[in-house]
Amino acid sequence: MAGKLEDIAVDPDIYSMATGYNGEPQDFQSETTSLASTIARGRLENGRRYQAIKDDDYWGPSDEQQFEAFEIGHLVFLVIDHLQPNPLFHAPIGESPKNILDIGTGKGSWAIDVADLYPTATVRGVDVFPPPVSWMPPNCVFEVDDVLREWTWKEPFDFIHMRLMYGAFAPEGWKKVYKQCYDALEPGGWIEQMELDVRVYSDDGSLQKHHELYRWGDMFIKCSEKAGSSLRTHETMRKAIEEAGFVDVHEKKYKIPLGPWAKDKIYKEAGHLQYAHWNAALEGWAMWLLTHHGEPKPWTKDEVQVFLAKVRQELKNPAIHAYEPANRVWARKPTLQEMRARQETPIKIEPSP
Ligand SMILES: C[S@@+](CC[C@H](N)C(=O)[O-])C[C@H]1O[C@@H](n2cnc3c(N)ncnc32)[C@H](O)[C@@H]1O
Repeated sequence: MAGKLEDIAVDPDIYSMATGYNGEPQDFQSETTSLASTIARGRLENGRRYQAIKDDDYWGPSDEQQFEAFEIGHLVFLVIDHLQPNPLFHAPIGESPKNILDIGTGKGSWAIDVADLYPTATVRGVDVFPPPVSWMPPNCVFEVDDVLREWTWKEPFDFIHMRLMYGAFAPEGWKKVYKQCYDALEPGGWIEQMELDVRVYSDDGSLQKHHELYRWGDMFIKCSEKAGSSLRTHETMRKAIEEAGFVDVHEKKYKIPLGPWAKDKIYKEAGHLQYAHWNAALEGWAMWLLTHHGEPKPWTKDEVQVFLAKVRQELKNPAIHAYEPANRVWARKPTLQEMRARQETPIKIEPSP
């Protein structure tokens, strides 16, 4: 009959799928539900939960304790840029972006705030673990995926953001991610990345060689490099972004105090929050890296706990005026005109119908 849609063929295996050994009908949803619950259950190790959607490890846990830390970290970054017109990001994306992507969204706080700021934009947050959100603005979408896989988003983005993705990828992985960002952006669209240097410094010599905090950063960088994905992302991102073809590159450097020791009101508040951030995050930062790649041999869980107890004591010491450097890089994909001048063929992303 003209115009009639083809019949949908029946999968012959459906009968065995639909009945159990006892002949009772089974729940059709159980397959997808169990996939979703495997993702949400993650993988447990040393009392912490890690993502379970990809085989190669990512060093950071995805559990309630770490999500609490992400939330406090988000506040630290808002406070440190409190005097800026937009403390969420610096890229000049204009008043009416349509599509924004947050890679490695974590708890999703940045994506939710940006969705509130641009109610007419769609803001996607993607992560290997589902963000634990019970409410989000209607224009905010969370997706579980590994950004090292081929991207399947149909709409081009106006803006792609990353924060604290240090140590998430090996150099080849970073190349792939920046290339996918470049290809997925509209001509003239922006990328922005904010990273911390995990090493701790003091300007007045109050952090000394005998302190655990003194060796903290180098120790973790070593572990991450043994794991193949260096934590030195703050040092490499600018060049990697330039090499991916981005232009109009800007960089802003920060010092984030560790504890409320600074005189300046904003630094004091940021330091206060950064102290709370460290307290919540410490174990999650340390556990996987030290128990897998610690030196001279992988540490035990108990050794990590003893070390962290000493670090916690130092964090409380008002005589140590420590800070961590951070930096933010933002850059633009060339406009169509600039791409033509570079004899570059723009990749056409077809908008979905
Ligand atoms: C340190 S957290 C930062 C979270 C968030 N951007 C923030 O600033 O609070 C890094 C996040 O990247 C995610 N991540 C790591 N590798 C990833 C990958 N291959 N694809 C997607 N997300 C990834 C982790 O699950 C984690 O939530």
